[in-house]
Amino acid sequence: MTGRVQGKSALVTGAGSGIGRATAVALAAEGARVVVADVDLDGGEETCALVRAAGGEAFAVRCDVARSADVEAAVAATVRAYGRLDCAVNNAGIEGVLLPIHELPEEDWQRTIAVNLSGVFLSLKHELAVMLSQGSGSIVNVASVLGVVAFPNAAGYNAAKHGVIGLTKTAALEASPLGVRVNAVCPGFVETPMARRGRAIVGDDVYEALAGLHALRRLGEADEIAEAIVWLCSDAASFVTGSSLMADGGFTAQ
Ligand SMILES: NC(=O)c1ccc[n+]([C@@H]2O[C@H](COP(=O)([O-])OP(=O)(O)OC[C@H]3O[C@@H](n4cnc5c(N)ncnc54)[C@H](O)[C@@H]3O)[C@@H](O)[C@H]2O)c1
Repeated sequence: MTGRVQGKSALVTGAGSGIGRATAVALAAEGARVVVADVDLDGGEETCALVRAAGGEAFAVRCDVARSADVEAAVAATVRAYGRLDCAVNNAGIEGVLLPIHELPEEDWQRTIAVNLSGVFLSLKHELAVMLSQGSGSIVNVASVLGVVAFPNAAGYNAAKHGVIGLTKTAALEASPLGVRVNAVCPGFVETPMARRGRAIVGDDVYEALAGLHALRRLGEADEIAEAIVWLCSDAASFVTGSSLMADGGFTAQ
């Protein structure tokens, strides 16, 4: 059987957990050879074990997306191993500290922006250098519903995710005429370790109320976001670029 990304090579950042892990597994199941990039190498190796157990091909690299040299090395490792870079999923992210702006330490703001916004810029920079020389490729940036609307006490996260959507449009305008598509996916709230850490802070009542913010009256699953990302990566999305796909259970429809 031929998969939707058969024979393609894919780099997924933040693939040691949650949405990134589900995406790496899904891309491999659809025929891609995958590089799992994460600051947490143990998590990355666990993802590779899941890919291999399902008959796929993957290897892990340690990569902090806030460090240009790390991202450049992850891209180079992909090209060295697989000969090219066809798909890149810029998913690595942190939730940041939940505080109102006037109480938010500057270093917490800086770190959230460094990972969630500059990390996507650095990833685009190094991925596009390869893809533009190939004349082909597809990039998916993982933004959020909080790239479109805001929650209080999440200034760094909101600002970074809004910025990811702007970066996505900019990259799409620059790269699409040269054969490279760039899109964003905006998940609603999804059951992952990040969401579970949030639950521990805001409490069970607030967390359970989050489901009601979605028209589907539930949180999403990482596999459901991975499905949207695989489609955007694949040639089936050949006329889609510069878009921000809401995979949000209807959160922003209201
Ligand atoms: N879970 C949600 O509700 C939700 C909703 C919307 C968007 N998102 C976004 O989806 C993406 C994945 O989130 P998740 O819920 O799977 O979280 P997660 O915490 O389960 O996984 C995030 C992964 O990113 C890695 N990571 C963190 N900082 C990194 C860095 N500097 N360099 C490389 N890797 C790093 C972590 O080690 C981890 O493996 C994030 O960008 C997040 O903002 C999540």
